[in-house]
Amino acid sequence: HHYVVIMAGGIGSRFWPMSRQDYPKQFLDILNTGRTLIQWTFDRFSTLIPLENIYVVTSQEYVGIVKEQLPHLPAANILGEPSRKNTAPCIAYISFKLMQLDPKASLIVAPADHLILDKTAFTKVCLEALSFVGKHNAFITLGIKPTYPNTGYGYIQYEQHSVSDNVYKVKTFTEKPNLELAKTFLASGDFLWNAGIFVWQVKNVIQAFEKYLPEMYDVFAADKDKFNTPTEKEALQAIYPLCTNISIDFGIMEKADNVYVIPSSFGWSDLGTWNSAYENLEKDYLENAVAGDNVIVIDATRCMVHAPNDKLVLLQGLDSVIVVDTPDVLLICKREKEQEIKEYVAEVKRNK
Ligand code: GDD
Ligand code: MG
Repeated sequence: HHYVVIMAGGIGSRFWPMSRQDYPKQFLDILNTGRTLIQWTFDRFSTLIPLENIYVVTSQEYVGIVKEQLPHLPAANILGEPSRKNTAPCIAYISFKLMQLDPKASLIVAPADHLILDKTAFTKVCLEALSFVGKHNAFITLGIKPTYPNTGYGYIQYEQHSVSDNVYKVKTFTEKPNLELAKTFLASGDFLWNAGIFVWQVKNVIQAFEKYLPEMYDVFAADKDKFNTPTEKEALQAIYPLCTNISIDFGIMEKADNVYVIPSSFGWSDLGTWNSAYENLEKDYLENAVAGDNVIVIDATRCMVHAPNDKLVLLQGLDSVIVVDTPDVLLICKREKEQEIKEYVAEVKRNK
């Protein structure tokens, strides 16, 4: 009764210009490893969960890319959404679908675009979580020791005493706090980052939709008999426009009272921005991280250069700069301004 859903519908705009709406970062080999992020994600689960129980939910426009990149995954397990509505509708969709196929299903929900260095430790945590949710109505989150006040993450405050082995009851879940709050959380010392990976029984999360996102629940429930039939696609076309755009974190995790955490360390990194790539790449003695064979760096320090093309790129005398070269766009920006890349992209789109 074990399943996993890989959520792969985001557009990764902070990784622009390498990540594009028509080919976002989960389908790219950001760290030059020979495998793309979604391929690594799939590899992590393919030894843990039977292939036929691994699902990918993505935007309809990426279904072809997923098929190409994950040729061993049954094509029927690649599910396309008619529009981008964030993670709550994506999770409602797979949950209602699985509920019909297997009412006892336990589900691991995983993002497609993370880096996890220690697969063995990760597998162990997943097994612990699956075993716990098999016995309890619990929503397990995996918690990571925070290192700086990142405002793009969820923060988990948990109780001192474990309820079983490594499982702790969560007191508060705060999604994307402002900087001031994030600093307070970090200073207090008893908060963890939410890794964005959840484990629960499908029947329990459906109940949570009914309680905390009742409109979304109703919309899915009304058409649920069409799932796993030839009219599933048609049903989605009707359902999605009626769904609010909301993440599972804001929609359910902040509100539910049965949230638990397993404090974990498996070399997790969100790979959300160029600086997180910088942190994970090998650096030269002047702390430059360079991806690309045709790059020459002279007297530059702490730069992040991604230029995997034939074009020769030469950097001189710069400090803490991001340089990303793609066939049609060249980005040069200060490393500390990387969060703003998202806004530049919006600007570029507006001016097109
Ligand atoms: N199918 C589908 N549809 N997938 C989506 C959609 C959608 O509309 N929107 C986002 N995703 C996918 C992304 O591709 C990614 O793999 C995952 O869902 C999470 O979405 P993000 O947009 O990357 O979320 P986030 O990074 O802002 O926040 C989440 O992750 C953090 C850790 O990385 C939250 O769970 C935070 O609490 C958490 O700390
Ligand atoms: Mg993310």
